[in-house]
Amino acid sequence: VPSAPADWADLIRDVPDFPKPGVVFKDITPLLASPAGFAAVVDELVARAPERIDVVVGMEARGFIFGAPVALRLGAAFVPIRKAGKLPAEVITASYDLEYGTETLAVHADAVRPGARVLIVDDVLATGGTVGATAELVRRLGAELVAVTVVLELDFLHGREKLAARGIDQLTALRSTASATG
Ligand code: PRP
Ligand code: MG
Repeated sequence: VPSAPADWADLIRDVPDFPKPGVVFKDITPLLASPAGFAAVVDELVARAPERIDVVVGMEARGFIFGAPVALRLGAAFVPIRKAGKLPAEVITASYDLEYGTETLAVHADAVRPGARVLIVDDVLATGGTVGATAELVRRLGAELVAVTVVLELDFLHGREKLAARGIDQLTALRSTASATG
């Protein structure tokens, strides 16, 4: 059995100047490439999940990677949120601002039953646009947003505060750049 890393967070790699100069990209691929590290982060996501989650919602693309195994472990449904134009049946959509332009997310209109207890899972919280639009979709489906869990919060972008201002205050981050080293 390969030994687990001291901390799976050490397997998230900083890539400077991607996708543009001055931005440090948080690359999760080394974490995914470590069976022990990937298992440890999924364990931690599962351990943080509230009781009686009916549905785990994950956002294309990296939210799928973490959300799907968490759903299986919780015995919950997995519902994908996709970028607009990918889902085949009736959808509802929500948009958020990017630095240049907007992004639109979609979910099937019948994907979550009203009243279902929902956990949103994603890899990184940056400006909060992705989680904000996803939370809006979950609410418009009539479901109960119980928790939002992200693997890594880039606290210097203040996504948490922006979400709280919209009434989304159920956020947990496994790690934050505020406490990260190296
Ligand atoms: C990345 C990341 C988060 C989001 C965080 O997704 O996976 O979902 O950005 O940024 P925000 O808080 O400012 O919205 P992105 O849409 O860039 O690409 P992906 O398809 O690789 O997940
Ligand atoms: Mg993403």
